[in-house]
Amino acid sequence: MKKKIILVTGASSGIGAETARLLSHEYRIILCGRDWERLESVRSECEGDDNLIWPYDLSDINDIENSLSSFIKDNSLEIYGLAACAGMIKYLPVKNFSPKSFEEIFRTNVISSALLVKVLVNKKYNAGNLRSVVFVSSNISNFGAKAHALYSSSKAAVDGLMRSLSVELAPHVRVNSVLPGAVETRMTSHIYSDTELVERMAESFPMGLGRTEDIAKGIRFLISDDSRWITGQQLIIDGGRTVNLTV
Ligand SMILES: NC(=O)c1ccc[n+]([C@@H]2O[C@H](COP(=O)([O-])OP(=O)(O)OC[C@H]3O[C@@H](n4cnc5c(N)ncnc54)[C@H](OP(=O)(O)O)[C@@H]3O)[C@@H](O)[C@H]2O)c1
Repeated sequence: MKKKIILVTGASSGIGAETARLLSHEYRIILCGRDWERLESVRSECEGDDNLIWPYDLSDINDIENSLSSFIKDNSLEIYGLAACAGMIKYLPVKNFSPKSFEEIFRTNVISSALLVKVLVNKKYNAGNLRSVVFVSSNISNFGAKAHALYSSSKAAVDGLMRSLSVELAPHVRVNSVLPGAVETRMTSHIYSDTELVERMAESFPMGLGRTEDIAKGIRFLISDDSRWITGQQLIIDGGRTVNLTV
């Protein structure tokens, strides 16, 4: 049987790479990222020999529609799902806010995801094949932390996008988001290299520290038909971190 196709952004590293590897057992994967070598390396770890790489810098929001629609056409793809894992973080206190820093993070974390969905629901490019979208948000979307305003506002925007698209695109397409707590990736390597901080952090997670595979399994569930009646939802995967009021 022909495998369904999933576009995984951020597939060159961390949560996206884990998602690409995990989903490749059931789906054909299109891996998106900027670093060709790391994309190739993840592709070599995926199951199947027909997974493709779409190398694209998602901060270039003006050419996304053109680039993705051409890629779909050139490779005769019918894309069933989108796992939008790509993202960036920037720590900035309010005194250092600038229009440019907001623009950069919103282009990469929010606007690119919206434009990917726009292409994938366009009948001309993807013939009504899209059925499931999962945005990778963050558990900070619903909370706050010092110097996190840029990142948290971008993730709250991702969840706002998710809710409205879930209503607009039903019943054909389901749209959900996954909200991870801190897991070890390139993005969090500065935290995980500090042993004392990791120990402190581990204590605040009732279930202990998590791993990228814990997040990827949640994404797999929301992509699949097992979640066929779930749309417009945030799936928080953080080992209980954000419900923990222990002092
Ligand atoms: N790790 C955590 O604790 C954590 C917690 C909550 C939420 N998240 C979210 O999880 C997602 C994955 O993060 P991660 O922790 O796996 O980080 P990561 O290891 O740094 O991976 C980030 C991925 O995003 C891609 N990316 C970043 N900017 C891009 C751009 N302009 N164009 C194309 N691709 C771009 C990177 O591609 P290249 O390297 O090829 O450029 C890389 O594949 C992000 O949305 C992040 O906000 C992570």
